[in-house]
Amino acid sequence: MTDHARIGIVTVSDRASRGEYEDKGGPAIEAELFKILLSDWEAVNVIIPDDRKAIETTLIDLCDHEQCCLVLTTGGTGPAVRDVTPDATAAVCEKLMPGFGELMRSESLKVVPTAILSRQIAGIRGRSLVINLPGNPPAIHDCLMAVFPAVPYCIDLLEGPWLDTDPEYCPAFRPKHAKKPGPTGK
Ligand code: MTE
Repeated sequence: MTDHARIGIVTVSDRASRGEYEDKGGPAIEAELFKILLSDWEAVNVIIPDDRKAIETTLIDLCDHEQCCLVLTTGGTGPAVRDVTPDATAAVCEKLMPGFGELMRSESLKVVPTAILSRQIAGIRGRSLVINLPGNPPAIHDCLMAVFPAVPYCIDLLEGPWLDTDPEYCPAFRPKHAKKPGPTGK
């Protein structure tokens, strides 16, 4: 098992995918990951429209072929007709991880009452964790800071790369028995 992590960053937006406005969500996630992660990682960036089939195909590709241990989406989690990111995520994941959506909504609720309009979810496809983040950059920060402490151990349980976070910025929590595998993977 390599310690190099590939992380998918998916911007789901009709207008950003048509180039009508600059994608702010994808770069906000990437900037946040640079602050959170000390271990070696690379981003696999994709911008797609709010189209359920396109989202499903992209998530499948990032999990199954690009071998991203973690896939973060931004946008399309609200109640509008074109908002279908959580639906596409649920369709491609074998397991849902309801704690992520619950925690992100309750954290966002401290900031805006419209946080309950977010349908964001998380789930597992194969050995990949997929997490929906909202579209707006401050919301991305609030949500990632809330859930990321549990992400490295989730990736451990999926037998993915060992993720180290900056303890000053976003300390990861692992149970005491969790330890970094040696070079042979044991
Ligand atoms: N969470 C935080 N922290 N800050 C916000 O401004 N906006 C809410 C919600 N969560 C918001 C938030 C609103 S208004 C909506 S509609 C949903 O996220 C969905 O946003 P999305 O369509 O960009 O995914």
